[in-house]
Amino acid sequence: MSGTEISRLAGLNPVADLPKPPGLYWNVRAKQPVAYSVSMVRGLLDIENPTLARACAGQRRPSRCLLVVDAVVDGLYRKRFAEYFDHWQIEVTWQVIQGDEESKYLEQAVRVTEAMSQMGLLRRAEKVVAVGGGVVLDIVGFAASMYRRGVPYVRIPTTLVGQIDAGIGVKTGINHGHHKNRLGSYFAPETTLIDPDFLRTIDTRHVANGIAEIIKMALVKDAVLFDLLEATVGSITPDTLAGCGSAVSEVLSRSISGMLDELEPNLWEQVLERSVDYGHTFSPSLELLADPPLLHGEAVAVDMAICLGLAHLRGHLSKRDTDRALKLLQGFHLPISHPVFTQELLEKALADAVKHRDGLQRVPLTRGIGSVVFVNDLTPEELARALEFVDFWKATSDDELDGAAV
Ligand SMILES: NC(=O)c1ccc[n+]([C@@H]2O[C@H](COP(=O)([O-])OP(=O)(O)OC[C@H]3O[C@@H](n4cnc5c(N)ncnc54)[C@H](O)[C@@H]3O)[C@@H](O)[C@H]2O)c1
Ligand SMILES: [Zn+2]
Repeated sequence: MSGTEISRLAGLNPVADLPKPPGLYWNVRAKQPVAYSVSMVRGLLDIENPTLARACAGQRRPSRCLLVVDAVVDGLYRKRFAEYFDHWQIEVTWQVIQGDEESKYLEQAVRVTEAMSQMGLLRRAEKVVAVGGGVVLDIVGFAASMYRRGVPYVRIPTTLVGQIDAGIGVKTGINHGHHKNRLGSYFAPETTLIDPDFLRTIDTRHVANGIAEIIKMALVKDAVLFDLLEATVGSITPDTLAGCGSAVSEVLSRSISGMLDELEPNLWEQVLERSVDYGHTFSPSLELLADPPLLHGEAVAVDMAICLGLAHLRGHLSKRDTDRALKLLQGFHLPISHPVFTQELLEKALADAVKHRDGLQRVPLTRGIGSVVFVNDLTPEELARALEFVDFWKATSDDELDGAAV
């Protein structure tokens, strides 16, 4: 590069005009490979199935592990876990924690590290095993990343959100100072073991909660998954999820692999244009304000509805596909609007998202079903028009339903 070129480039960057710092300096560069597995395993707690024992026991015999388990899951599955670990001669230290959003705070994570300390957890050979929904997985992952600056852990997600989202990436976290997941880390588990049979005991609202994230994956990435969801909309229940017939099984596996495909090249979120952020621009503010509270997936559904309106009004999504997508959300009994979701809230939420996304909107919108485009120039007027669009759409579809019921 010529001297003139260098000074021309330096002219673009004010820092380059600063004098070279005095003194000695060293640059350190290291890379840390990340490798973990995600498996779908039926019958994880069947006595003869060695999968869980292999994941929890490590190399030593006899072996121990710390099992941190959601209180509700403990009530439902303690006997089966206990029999399983007895059979495989794994000594378990149980720690039961609350798995609701209000319990997702720093002290809980610290308590988990104290349990590690009390049992004298070996730094590499003994495992921490997190069993529960996204809340417990996030708390335990965060605790594992803090304890001795990182100890191995295993995730066993027991909710739909856990199995297709919270349990399969590398993010951990807790809520702090009225902000969701404000403290956290990127810390991969050794392995995630998914057994859909746990979904038999979740309630239908939590099914829809997870389905919202699956619809997200379909809209931004996978038109086949979208068709599958349309075909199975009336038949996805806790029992069919647990039974994992071929269509439902494909819904789960396509959603998981789509999510992993998106996460893998961008595990540390260096790139801030993330299609998995679809439906996550306006929803955090809605989640904070909604009273009675909305589940995460419900807030994401309301956000996705506005994004469908925005995409349609920009000509990225046909009227037919917009109708299909809004109908799909409604078909799973997900909300598409909310009283506190006003233009004012949308503008404030977008301003917050801009900070989180390092100064640009980077809002993912669908470009046809199964593909995404990022926009940085949404205007308040456009947000208002999208709100009107969804309200009008909803009013018309409510009228149609009323008409059909007469
Ligand atoms: N780390 C990530 O990448 C990531 C991604 C998505 C969501 N999350 C986090 O996940 C959390 C939401 O997770 P969630 O939707 O699983 O909610 P959750 O963990 O609160 O679980 C929902 C409810 O289901 C109960 N439960 C769990 N398993 C059960 C079972 N098998 N049978 C009956 N009841 C059961 C729990 O006790 C709880 O009351 C949020 O805090 C969110 O921030 C994290
Ligand atoms: Zn989400």
